[in-house]
Amino acid sequence: LHYQGFQGSHLAYKADGYVGNNSAVFPLQLLGYDVDPINSVQFSNHTGYPTFKGQVLNGKQLWELIEGLEANNLLFYTHLLTGYIGSVSFLNTVLEVINKLRSINPKLTYGGSIAATAKITPVLLVIVLEIFLSVCDPVMGDEGKLYVPPELVSVYREQRLLACAGFVTWGTKRIFLSVCDPVMGDEGKLYVPPELVSVYREQVVPVASMLTPNHFEAEQLTGFRIVSEQDGRKACDILHSAGPSKVVVTSINVDGNLLLIGSHQKEKGQSPMQFKILIPKIPTYFMGTGDLMTALLLGWSNKYPDNLDKAAELAVSSVQALLLRTLADYQIAGYDPQSSSLEIRLIQSQDDIRSPEIKYRAEAY
Ligand code: ATP
Ligand code: PLP
Ligand code: MG
Ligand code: NA
Ligand code: MG
Repeated sequence: LHYQGFQGSHLAYKADGYVGNNSAVFPLQLLGYDVDPINSVQFSNHTGYPTFKGQVLNGKQLWELIEGLEANNLLFYTHLLTGYIGSVSFLNTVLEVINKLRSINPKLTYGGSIAATAKITPVLLVIVLEIFLSVCDPVMGDEGKLYVPPELVSVYREQRLLACAGFVTWGTKRIFLSVCDPVMGDEGKLYVPPELVSVYREQVVPVASMLTPNHFEAEQLTGFRIVSEQDGRKACDILHSAGPSKVVVTSINVDGNLLLIGSHQKEKGQSPMQFKILIPKIPTYFMGTGDLMTALLLGWSNKYPDNLDKAAELAVSSVQALLLRTLADYQIAGYDPQSSSLEIRLIQSQDDIRSPEIKYRAEAY
């Protein structure tokens, strides 16, 4: 536990850092969801700091958690979200689990009424893992730096499957949506092992129903550079053809500003409904915003399944209110907000998360 105020001159080094589950769970809870987080890594602080220490969950340990849930008939979740993955063994275990379950019931599909199958554990397990697959945030790195072991990248790329890092789940009775934030990097840098990229591209993206890459991750997944708004839209088209019906490129850097591009393909093969939200860029590097953004997109999309633009307006408006508060609080405390990456003021922004005032509008293309 950490006191949420500022800590003297070590402001930038306080607390564990709001990334991953720290950034995603609280907002989902505020939006009314029950969330069971599994931490794939437990670090002293996030990897944006000069150094970090801690533990990485391995596949065997993940499997033990799944076994425990299954033994108690608790392995029933409607949504899964994955993020930063710290170890190859973790990915491999998830892969094995999926294979095993698919061999039990190869015809399984998900969607529709799960309640009817709720008592058949193997089926449920597959459903859960299908969702699991489809909500992968393939966290690998940012700004050219991997922040997971390099061997992970090929696991993502060459083997089948997927990542589960901050994996959050909650328990209503129907599956509406599953979200993959393909966390790999930012601003030109990979922060996961390079081998993860192809696993995300070839195995994970195809099973995601919603994908929330940043600029860099969209380039990694599509294989072409995005230098314009048009390129961003094209990236969404390519990603739709790979699988997900909803794609939100959470930020594209164009002309010194940020552009969110959303794209909802309501029917396979049809041209998607696309929109953009212009976001004035704050000249500060924040961490945890991607995890927060994905959590909010998931939470709001579940409430407005046919209005991705509305979900995005709500999510962006919350995030911007939070970032502006973060900036103001640091300035009030006497810090230069450009000097280091700032810890987001999450707890302090709960009203903006629960009921954001929409100040950022989606413009349809
Ligand atoms: P992260 O860098 O935390 O991994 P990401 O790169 O996955 O995040 P981004 O698209 O960079 O995700 O950020 C998510 C959202 O956070 C953006 O849509 C935007 O609303 C907001 N955001 C992030 N950084 C800034 C900034 N410097 N100025 C304004 N908004 C920002
Ligand atoms: N998760 C963990 C544990 C991290 O250390 C980081 C970055 O350092 C991330 C996730 C990436 O978070 P985001 O994409 O929200 O910036
Ligand atoms: Mg970013
Ligand atoms: Na993102
Ligand atoms: Mg991210």
